[in-house]
Amino acid sequence: MYKFIIRGGQPLSGDVFISGAKNAVLPIMAATLITPGHFILRNVPDLRDTRTMLKLLEIIGAKVNFSDGKMEIDSTTCSNPVAPYEVVKTMRASFDVLGPLSSRFRYAKVSLPGGCAWGPRPVDLHLKALKALGTEVTLEGGYIIVKGAASGAEINFELSSVGATKNALMAAVKAEGQTIIQNAAREPEITALIDFLNALGADISGQDSTRLCINGVKELKNELDFTIIPDRIEAGTFLITNLLLGGEIRLHNVNPEHLAIVLTKLQEAGSRLEITADSILSQGGPSIAPVNITTAPYPGFPTDLQAQWMALMSRAVGDSIIIDEIYHDRFTHVAELNRLGARIKLEQNVAVVEGVARLTGAPVMSTDIRASASLIIAGLAAAGETEVSRIYHIDRGYEKIETKLKNIGADISRVRG
Ligand code: EPZ
Repeated sequence: MYKFIIRGGQPLSGDVFISGAKNAVLPIMAATLITPGHFILRNVPDLRDTRTMLKLLEIIGAKVNFSDGKMEIDSTTCSNPVAPYEVVKTMRASFDVLGPLSSRFRYAKVSLPGGCAWGPRPVDLHLKALKALGTEVTLEGGYIIVKGAASGAEINFELSSVGATKNALMAAVKAEGQTIIQNAAREPEITALIDFLNALGADISGQDSTRLCINGVKELKNELDFTIIPDRIEAGTFLITNLLLGGEIRLHNVNPEHLAIVLTKLQEAGSRLEITADSILSQGGPSIAPVNITTAPYPGFPTDLQAQWMALMSRAVGDSIIIDEIYHDRFTHVAELNRLGARIKLEQNVAVVEGVARLTGAPVMSTDIRASASLIIAGLAAAGETEVSRIYHIDRGYEKIETKLKNIGADISRVRG
């Protein structure tokens, strides 16, 4: 086990090169299972989660190679349409292979994902979509079994779900006839998946909207070279960190359009930003204004930046309210932030953050990817030393985070412990 030792108070300065988006590459890796082919993915972040998905593709029978951000997947050798519990329990996104496997093999056996650090994460919408497409869906021994060929249908999601939209899309690309998905998620990672599938020969329209139309095709191409979009959550995490610590950093390899609401909120809170097509110059300080947020499906404020925003608001010159409408229980970071001197009160999914003049270092514990980021941010702002334990969580979703932070002046080191 490793932990981070952080000594707070250093202002940041320098350049940060943002990695490819974890939540875009994971479904695209799953999509390579839909058809036998040779795929090259570029700008792939080296994360625990991308390594876990690679392991799953190998279990299914693909041949894979991954180094220096370039991933090669040969899915011509796939023959085992099963995603075992041992893998799925370590990463929920493994469930993304359900649609691709049922499309390719007309049979899929995928373990139900468990809950996660902050509570149950149902998949009922994924299953409703697959049933609407005419497949037989059963639950046997903790595994979802999908049988039969999909045929075009109208799918109406009662709520916006990134995962269910992905599985419905991937199950429908080769289904007989036309599929309409109403109330589809429209996160940039969904648009990236659609771009990948269309480049492969699928016929999907409506991207960036909540209504998708998929005309089933008989065949897809058997090779593709595709570059992964930048990670908007990593970019938002660094911008929040810079406002909290004060200083000047420039983010490279970003797409500011994917962060519109976050940039607006950062400016309201005191960030000065210079934005180009693929970079953002951020100047922080001298103080942080309290700014309320409520999370919502894209283009709303992302739930994946809620914990990081809370760390920022803990040092605002006033009180703020943070509401998570996506995950009502995604607040395991509150108790840990309060150990660092924050004053946060939680009532169900509403956190009231009373800004304090200073945070003080202490040992704290990570519980999930974004809570870990929140604790690192707060530790960088706290006086004295902060120890963040169980940092395997952060390694799931941030590539070389301590190296990137050290390169801009942060005092952080990874030690055994
Ligand atoms: C994706 O998870 C992301 N993960 C999450 O990021 C992100 O927080 C989430 O979308 C919301 O933006 C990946 O892309 C790998 P959902 P997903 O289905 O697809 C409810 C991170 O830190 N729901 O959009 O699982 C669900 O409980 C991770 O990178 C159902 O009720 O999220 C939630 O309240 C954490 N039934 C809401 O919908 C379902 O069948 C949104 O979930 C599916 C979802």
